[in-house]
Amino acid sequence: MNYLLRGIGVVAAVGAVSVLAFSLPSGDARGDGGGHALPKLTHKNWQQECASCHIAYAPAFLPKASWRRLMGGLDQHFGENASLDPATQADILRFLEANAADSGNSRMGGRVMQGVNLNEAPLRITETRWFVRKHDEVSRATWSRKSIGSAANCAACHRQAEQGVFDEDTVRIPK
Ligand code: HEC
Ligand code: HEC
Repeated sequence: MNYLLRGIGVVAAVGAVSVLAFSLPSGDARGDGGGHALPKLTHKNWQQECASCHIAYAPAFLPKASWRRLMGGLDQHFGENASLDPATQADILRFLEANAADSGNSRMGGRVMQGVNLNEAPLRITETRWFVRKHDEVSRATWSRKSIGSAANCAACHRQAEQGVFDEDTVRIPK
């Protein structure tokens, strides 16, 4: 009896260790630094067309439905005309959908999805519940500082936003 119980204990312990050993490297293999950085993505049209007015927002920050809505209205894009030819537009949308928050490709996406109401397909990352919760320590007066401009200006505070790095150590709110 005692012997048997000890046996079960060993099996359970080995099981726990192997689960750990399995989950740690797989997190690293995604290159997401434990979930605070985003997978490195390269896509020519996206980098060329979506990073001239602001940083190329990572696809994992919005669900597919949002990207479809956003890419369908580029002629009226937050007061700008960001129209593209149909082929380029379709190519970028395919890329965004494949890596969207609900594509299952990143831990960040999973977190974002916890606060998204899919019926709403939000057009702004900065209006998702996830974003608002993560930034609840930033006051309204801070967002409107000249050095920041708007919450959409991620790189004002996240010094490595363009590299997809958003961890605590790289945040510095400008005066
Ligand atoms: C001509 C300039 C321009 C181009 C090109 C452009 N955008 Fe934007 N985008 C804007 C402006 C202006 C805003 C609003 C920024 C603000 O509120 O401070 C914006 C906001 C956004 C937001 C919402 C940010 C938030 O508040 O969470 C997303 C998402 C976005 N753009 C995606 C894209 C994508 C994808 C492309 C490429 C297909 C693109 N943009 C190309 C000007 C542009
Ligand atoms: C006014 C400065 C500011 C701006 C602008 C800003 N953030 Fe943040 N962000 C912060 C602060 C402060 C935190 C909390 C840091 C902490 O305690 O981990 C944070 C946290 C985050 C986190 C959480 C990281 C984690 O460890 O879970 C992500 C992701 C993030 N921001 C993304 C963005 C994105 C994307 C944008 C632009 C659409 C943006 N932020 C704009 C200041 C800012």
